Amino acid sequence: MSESNDVLVIRNLTKKFGEKPVLRGVSFNVERGETKVIIGPSGAGKSTLLRCINRLVEPNSGEIIFNGVNILSGDVDIRKVRARIGFVFQHFNIFKHLTALENVKIGLRVIRGLDNAEAEDKARKALKAVHLEDDAYDKYPAELSGGQQQRVAIARALAMEPEIILFDEPTSALDPQLAGEVLDVMRDLARRKVTMLVVTHEIGFALNAADEVLFFYDGVIWEKGLPKDLVYHPQREETREFLRRIADLSMFGGE
Ligand SMILES: Nc1ncnc2c1ncn2[C@@H]1O[C@H](COP(=O)(O)OP(=O)(O)O)[C@@H](O)[C@H]1O
Ligand SMILES: [Mg+2]
Repeated sequence: MSESNDVLVIRNLTKKFGEKPVLRGVSFNVERGETKVIIGPSGAGKSTLLRCINRLVEPNSGEIIFNGVNILSGDVDIRKVRARIGFVFQHFNIFKHLTALENVKIGLRVIRGLDNAEAEDKARKALKAVHLEDDAYDKYPAELSGGQQQRVAIARALAMEPEIILFDEPTSALDPQLAGEVLDVMRDLARRKVTMLVVTHEIGFALNAADEVLFFYDGVIWEKGLPKDLVYHPQREETREFLRRIADLSMFGGE
């Protein structure tokens, strides 16, 4: 275990698909309790970066230090690492044949080995933390809204008490009202100092929940800064151009 406050340190990470370089030397860190937001154009490699962190994608070179251990080194049990990293995807990825409550319980039973009563208790607490309505606990995904399904997915990650939760565009499949429900929950988690790394286009969320915003472009962290600095005073033309395209910044009050 390291003494530092870093949950995650990424150094010089590279990944090619065939001849195409997608990550060209990515370096950043996430400290315990921080919320970091990654923005950037489609196809820039943001999902690939997140997927490298639990080795759903194998990087070509670089280091990923998770809690002081380089998880790219040969002797790491990646299943153990994955059990401590939460992942919330764009398309919910919860089990269709299980109720909301069962979806949250199953990892606690199977991966954490908790007995039924303990798993039930932790699952209910997690569903409460994502503001799931009482009458939704025993419903199946098909009976839930997209916003409820995504909140169940967040509860499932949260219940495992991970060191960090990675979010890959968690609201981009939702209409604005349902996206708002999910963003409210994520803001709560940020306030509670749950460590999060969030890929999103939601500039409002970045402005009021992130400790730092990273602009990912052309396979590297092109620019980063405090949310207000990066959003309202980007230093590089590519960052300005991206922000102009995704948001009418006057909506957020401007500076
Ligand atoms: N498994 C894969 N095989 C080949 N190319 C891939 C694979 N996954 C992603 N890519 C390519 O890598 C680039 C970055 O993709 P991705 O990480 O999904 O970007 P983003 O999430 O920023 O939109 C894209 O050009 C994409 O087509
Ligand atoms: Mg993506």
